[in-house]
Amino acid sequence: MAEVRVAKSAGFCYGVERAVKLAEETAREKGGCAMLGSIIHNVHVVAELEALGARQVDSVEEVRPGETVIIRSHGERKEVFDRLEQLGAVCVNATCPNVVHIQELVSQAEQEGRQVVIIGEPHHPEVMGLASWCAHPLVFDGPEAVKMWLAEDPKNRETPVTVVAQTTCIRELFETSWKILKKECTNVKIFDTICNATHKRQTEAADIAGKVDVMVVVGDRKSANTKHLTEICLRRCRRVLQIENADELSPDFFNGCSVAGLTA
Ligand code: F3S
Repeated sequence: MAEVRVAKSAGFCYGVERAVKLAEETAREKGGCAMLGSIIHNVHVVAELEALGARQVDSVEEVRPGETVIIRSHGERKEVFDRLEQLGAVCVNATCPNVVHIQELVSQAEQEGRQVVIIGEPHHPEVMGLASWCAHPLVFDGPEAVKMWLAEDPKNRETPVTVVAQTTCIRELFETSWKILKKECTNVKIFDTICNATHKRQTEAADIAGKVDVMVVVGDRKSANTKHLTEICLRRCRRVLQIENADELSPDFFNGCSVAGLTA
């Protein structure tokens, strides 16, 4: 391989690093705590946190009464916070400030009588969390779903609509979706809530993918960020490999390649 181009923006974002730091501090201070869901998609960091006494739990029902619980950077559904309160748990809310901002936006929009529209993956924990801050949210995974909603009832065009995006949404998908709403509806407010860190990482990945023979994307298979990076790279590069760790790389994959790209 003649050259490897590594994305400068590769790696964990500020929101995830902040959550890990809060978990670390809490575990040290309290001599242990629970982390609700996976706080970071990195086995080594999780092992370090566990060594400090931070245990991972997958549901609220596994939380012990009175235990201190870290809420991960994606945020959680409102019901989860309510249930933790009922259990007498102490919440350390490590929801990324960008996500908190969207939760506030959607809740405020609904109080003003507006229809909240979230552009993102309906089953992603962040989106489910955002949706729980409203009573009647609409979640669309892209322009086709937006068009279907508009076609359902002509009155939908007159509904005052507030549009937000999942923080890791692919920009093109968000823009195509809000442009349809802007064109068809009479009263639309758009909040571009795509996270800057994500946008930067996606733009750089696209740029590198367009200039290399093979592109490697490192990240957890369950991560929306990883999935979106792979999709973006596939649009610019025919050979894209998504892996979780270096063991998955095989020399065969690089046959005939002179320049490789790497993002994470
Ligand atoms: Fe990370 Fe927060 Fe952005 S968790 S991807 S910095 S929204």
